[in-house]
Amino acid sequence: MKNIVILISGDGSNMEAIIRTAKAQNWEKHLQARVAAVISNRPSAKGLGIAQHHGVTTQVVDHTSFANAPNPREAFDTALIKEIDQYAPALVVLAGFMRILAPFFVAHYEGQLINIHPSLLPAFQGLNTHQRAIEAGCQFAGATVHQVSAELDHGPILVQAIVPIMEGDTAEGLAARVLTQEHLIYPAAIAKLLEN
Ligand code: GAR
Repeated sequence: MKNIVILISGDGSNMEAIIRTAKAQNWEKHLQARVAAVISNRPSAKGLGIAQHHGVTTQVVDHTSFANAPNPREAFDTALIKEIDQYAPALVVLAGFMRILAPFFVAHYEGQLINIHPSLLPAFQGLNTHQRAIEAGCQFAGATVHQVSAELDHGPILVQAIVPIMEGDTAEGLAARVLTQEHLIYPAAIAKLLEN
């Protein structure tokens, strides 16, 4: 069985879309794969309860608890690797995981670490992607599933979804429309990776 570990920080709607698709498409039977665990860096992440509701094991590695370590970021990433590796994952899926990961973390999961970003990369890396796309006068926004490389929001593109920007669009309205597309492309990209 190929284990998928999903990392979240917040709502976990992409995580839920992946869990639901895995069930609906019976990934255990057809892809010999399952969502083995959901790990959050925030104890209050809404997605933790949703994962539990779906019967998926959850863990918390709270980044704030490493604040007094000599190198807090390195200590957090090291603890996260230890937690993830308990599941011997075939795939580590960042789904709204809002921490920048160190190069040693990325190297540890080379070829096995993917992310979803709410823009048409390489445009609008970083935060506030929808507001920036609207302000730039873009006619299209979207989302990108990509392999994670050491540089933030880089790495080979696996799938993109394109969403038109409407007259008078707000960042919130656009984000909600893009999110519905994210829920389709992320599970599809994962299934395709697991097939190969
Ligand atoms: C999603 O829109 C995702 O693309 C974005 O955060 C949201 C998480 O929503 N990720 C990033 O901005 C990563 N830099 P969710 O928790 O409901 O899946």
